[in-house]
Amino acid sequence: MSEADLHAFVAMARRRRAVRHFKPDPVDPAVLAEALEAARWAPSGYNLQPTHFVVVKKRARREALRRACLNQAQVTEAPICVVFVGDRQVVANHFEQVLAADREASAISPEYERLLRRVVPMAFNTGPLGLGRLLKAVAAPLLRLFVPVPSLPAVECKAWLARQAALCAMNFMLAASAAGLATCPMEGFDERRVRRVLQLPRSMVPLIVVPLGFAAGDGAGKTRLPPSQLIHHDRWR
Ligand SMILES: Cc1cc2nc3c(=O)[nH]c(=O)nc-3n(C[C@H](O)[C@H](O)[C@H](O)COP(=O)(O)O)c2cc1C
Repeated sequence: MSEADLHAFVAMARRRRAVRHFKPDPVDPAVLAEALEAARWAPSGYNLQPTHFVVVKKRARREALRRACLNQAQVTEAPICVVFVGDRQVVANHFEQVLAADREASAISPEYERLLRRVVPMAFNTGPLGLGRLLKAVAAPLLRLFVPVPSLPAVECKAWLARQAALCAMNFMLAASAAGLATCPMEGFDERRVRRVLQLPRSMVPLIVVPLGFAAGDGAGKTRLPPSQLIHHDRWR
């Protein structure tokens, strides 16, 4: 990557705006597919890929989704909404498949696979009736008195899923922006109602809703706090 590429990328990151008014113009399916491809290639913890992308196009479904999204207009103004959904059962659903694929592609060494097989169940398993979750919720803070213990998806599953989904959504929005499309990341919605509208199973958590389309007007004028206020070197002060 050249310096010019870097500047172009940063300029694009600065150009992306949360857009709240869209033209009704349709989105080229090939562009949508490419933006979803960018989302799919986002990193995820242990490469488990817990984020699914529910593409909502039908008018009636978007109207129902809008009601679940506190009546935010962008949900029906944009021709497409992508709902980023996290899978609470990702270990049962993907772990072996991901290990097999990564092993086949020589993406992981046998030692790393052994490490994953040890660490992933420890981090994720909630045990029968959720008793493992309870145990981990109690044990982790005690253990932390003696050794570093990361936050455990078994205990904080939604926070873990939200991190994974956010990275996918960011890739998606940047790719859309590169194609001249507008998006708006949204967490203003009623989770239970979104789940019902999309007929999601109980194990699937809607995390971010992103309308996609052509901006009607621009969302220019957004500011950011100065770098000196947000960037810290080596320690807080
Ligand atoms: C996690 C997250 C949730 C958001 N939820 C909403 C939302 O529900 N509705 C909305 O209009 N904007 C929402 N936004 C957009 C923010 O208001 C917007 O990103 C912020 O004001 C900065 O503006 P910019 O994205 O145009 O730079 C959300 C942004 C993020 C990152």
